[in-house]
Amino acid sequence: PQPKPRKPKGTPPCDPLDLTSRPRRNRRNGTFRAAFQETTLSPSNFILPVFIHEGETAAPINAMPGCYRVGWRHGLLDEVRKARDVGVNQVVLFPVVPNALKTPTADECYNPEGIVPRAIRLLKDTFPEIVIYTDVALDPYNSDGHDGIVNEAGEILNDETVYQLAKQAVMQADAGADVVSPSDMMDGRVGAIRNALDEAGHHNVSIMAYTAKYASAFYGPFREALDSNPRFGDKKTYQMNPGNFREALIEVESDEVEGADILMVKPAMPYLDVIRLLRDNTSLPVSAYQVSGEYSMIRAAAAAGMLDEKKAILESLLCIKRAGADLILTYFATEAAGYLVADAAKKPWS
Ligand code: PBG
Repeated sequence: PQPKPRKPKGTPPCDPLDLTSRPRRNRRNGTFRAAFQETTLSPSNFILPVFIHEGETAAPINAMPGCYRVGWRHGLLDEVRKARDVGVNQVVLFPVVPNALKTPTADECYNPEGIVPRAIRLLKDTFPEIVIYTDVALDPYNSDGHDGIVNEAGEILNDETVYQLAKQAVMQADAGADVVSPSDMMDGRVGAIRNALDEAGHHNVSIMAYTAKYASAFYGPFREALDSNPRFGDKKTYQMNPGNFREALIEVESDEVEGADILMVKPAMPYLDVIRLLRDNTSLPVSAYQVSGEYSMIRAAAAAGMLDEKKAILESLLCIKRAGADLILTYFATEAAGYLVADAAKKPWS
């Protein structure tokens, strides 16, 4: 016989409350909790961002413990192999570009022999089923470190930038990208990219628009990784004000009309309300980017013994999905998918 749970000493005697509803009944064991769970995570929801460089050795990123700039040949293939072993079949590439190749007009961004197209071709040859996303923006290639072309007055030029972005997107599609992702926040870029892709015959290449991308402090570690800090000023004339909610709907409307296939919110955790806003106002898939600073916060707190790393990672991702994201870009993709695969093998009552 099972030992009865012992009544702790000092528990006061009490008549049961007269309650019709006791929500705890549905939480009383692991089987019920699993059966009634409204949102679940799957490795198929994740997109793994990978930082690639020309070197052959992996270079650690100080502000992102556990993340590396990897060589675009072996390093990239190793990262992707590890990801697909646990069911993550989507990656997005971010290039480290040597300063010598950076110019005010960022023309290296559409060089068909640049690091990104080379990496795409290699990846497609090696793992044809992997879905490849590319970042469309000038900042890694721009000597001013901005997502757009800067004039003498220090202004970020919209329309001139859009022409460059369209060339960049077509070049990436030529190399084999499945989804191009403009992260620059210029006006009209989705439509211009759609037209340029169609004219080049890339009707089946998708656009994931960074729809509501905020001017966020949480991108700091990423800019260290790519050495892409703006050389002056900030990005507030193109990225959105963190205080704004309604304004995201203006971006939704234009990205939809211009032909976006997926709409993104970025960052994710501080902007869960915006993810929900998009989910309730579009029928397109919604993605969310758990950015570098969100990653580093969890890593740092876990390394200091302040958080349970695995639980914090999985909860952060589950809640981003609950808020309404179908897809999550996260540096934890491979690690989180590994946890999910291992947990799926466990019994709910264990
Ligand atoms: C640049 C770009 C940024 C990120 C993705 N694309 C940085 C920025 O806008 O300054 C940030 C991603 C991250 O922080 O993880 N176009």
